[in-house]
Amino acid sequence: MKRLVVLTGAGMSAESGLRTFREMGGLWEEYDVYEVASPGGWARDRSLVLRFYNDRRKQLLETSPNKGHLALVEMEKDFDVQIITQNVDDLHERAGSKNVMHLHGELRKSRSTVDPGLVYEIEGWELKEGDLCEKGSQLRPHVVWFGEAVPAIEQAAELVSRAEILVIIGTSMNVYPAAGLINHVPYTSPIYVIDPNEVSVPGFSRINVIREKAGTGVYELIKILSHD
Ligand code: APR
Repeated sequence: MKRLVVLTGAGMSAESGLRTFREMGGLWEEYDVYEVASPGGWARDRSLVLRFYNDRRKQLLETSPNKGHLALVEMEKDFDVQIITQNVDDLHERAGSKNVMHLHGELRKSRSTVDPGLVYEIEGWELKEGDLCEKGSQLRPHVVWFGEAVPAIEQAAELVSRAEILVIIGTSMNVYPAAGLINHVPYTSPIYVIDPNEVSVPGFSRINVIREKAGTGVYELIKILSHD
């Protein structure tokens, strides 16, 4: 089966009701990203950071995967589908996708602030001050904050370098190193972008654009690829 690598962003989960970041009404319009998603923000006001992620986790527990997530699961019948997501939600997994790599961490997990190897599932929606790791340190969201390294980036680049088809869904391609992954795709591999809005990918003229929301666009892609 052909290896189909999918890079997803916040737009993938938009039809599930989760907000994106940079659109009108996006999360970064309401919150100062450096106050709620950076080590400095955590140092200045960890209760604000915990509240920001608790709100998003609470909303996540009330949403479910959308048609786009489910269509990607359907593609596993005909392709070796490998998902690399910038999203911290677990909607790809809940839809049934088997191979999901989280570049920016996972909202439903916490990790020790003294030993990053200690990662825990969060029961329910709340991570509180006083929730400690087994070494007695405050637990933090298991999310990659601005200014922090993206541990899985090399593994992700290696995956993209072996993609026979690359599909980019629901990301403005604004944030590096995730956005730089496209540079690793083999020249011979077609690239599809599924997004209802214009997405600029500098230096790539050979992109097949499916100007649709994920819930429609992935089915469009299935049709296109079934004729190949
Ligand atoms: N279907 C597909 N794409 C959509 C939909 C939809 N229903 N709705 C919106 N989009 C597209 C938007 O047009 C935009 O291109 O999703 C993209 C969302 O872009 P961003 O809000 O910038 O989100 P993302 O690209 O995932 O951000 C990357 O930035 O803030 C950090 O760590 C955070 O992982 C995030 C990273």
